Amino acid sequence: IQRIGVYTSGGDAPGMNAAIRAVVRTALYNNIKVTGIYRGYEGMIEGDFKEMVSRSVSSILQKGGTILKSARCPEFRTPEGRKKAYDNVKEAGIDALVAIGGDGTFTGADIFSKEYDIPVMCIPGTIDNDLYGSDYTLGFDTANNTVIDAIDKIKDTAASHNRLFFVEVMGRDSGCIALNAGVAGGAEAILLPEKDTAIDELIDMLETAKDQNKTSMIVIVAEGDKNGGAYHVAQRVNEKFDYFDTKVSILGHLQRGGSPSSFDRVLATRMGYFAVNELLKGNRSATVGIRGSKIISTTLEEALRGKEFKLDEELVTISQVMNI
Ligand code: F6P
Repeated sequence: IQRIGVYTSGGDAPGMNAAIRAVVRTALYNNIKVTGIYRGYEGMIEGDFKEMVSRSVSSILQKGGTILKSARCPEFRTPEGRKKAYDNVKEAGIDALVAIGGDGTFTGADIFSKEYDIPVMCIPGTIDNDLYGSDYTLGFDTANNTVIDAIDKIKDTAASHNRLFFVEVMGRDSGCIALNAGVAGGAEAILLPEKDTAIDELIDMLETAKDQNKTSMIVIVAEGDKNGGAYHVAQRVNEKFDYFDTKVSILGHLQRGGSPSSFDRVLATRMGYFAVNELLKGNRSATVGIRGSKIISTTLEEALRGKEFKLDEELVTISQVMNI
């Protein structure tokens, strides 16, 4: 391998910059050149490339977002789009890729690497923590800390006014952020896409909490919950349960920003280092992950075969037990 192309794609996540830095520096350490590909697949199609040297990644370890920028790119789903991308990649002398992103990014990388026989390693970067092959994705820990900070603040005002708050968190179809933040933030109930909690069931939980003399409450609503979002849930609950003044807070994109936590920085650095070393060892198509404390690789084929990412059932039970 002479030159690695590195890019970030899909929704940005805190820790992506730390991963870019680790890829660039590990490659340079091994006398391999690095090209930064801007805006993911969009920049690959347009040839938006830049030579990366060690100083290109100075002081980015602690920064949220991604210095390479990111995009979602429908054109890359077409063979014509991928051909344009390949022509640019070839012309730049890139002979291996490191992709940082979520499942859309990985799917694109898989198709591209098979179509043009180019080795690729994928690093899981998404706050959603919804990828097979890794206990944690980059950004998940930071996003949780952001959400918990918000919940703590909301609790202060909820307690002062005896209010019921519905707090909507991100995660797409995954309830990982909602579950973790719900447990860490001491929420009275958590609505998860994986669980299908009916509104009547939620009302029963809130009635029980009220009977236990709780004077304010927090309900976490995962954005992928089937009841249709925090506003809708709040409205439907209010129709039958109106003991509390009710407020809704949608945390939105602030969950994606901010300086990565120590955990995400170290994880990103380990993953970036590992990805480059796997390419050097001849690995041609895999994702990087962490299992327990060990960094591992999973073939892209296995990672994408659709084995569902499972929610931690024990943590769901624990969250319920904590509400007596
Ligand atoms: O995948 C990360 C994520 O933040 C999801 O949690 C959310 O559903 C989605 O991206 C939002 O995407 P966009 O920034 O394109 O609105």
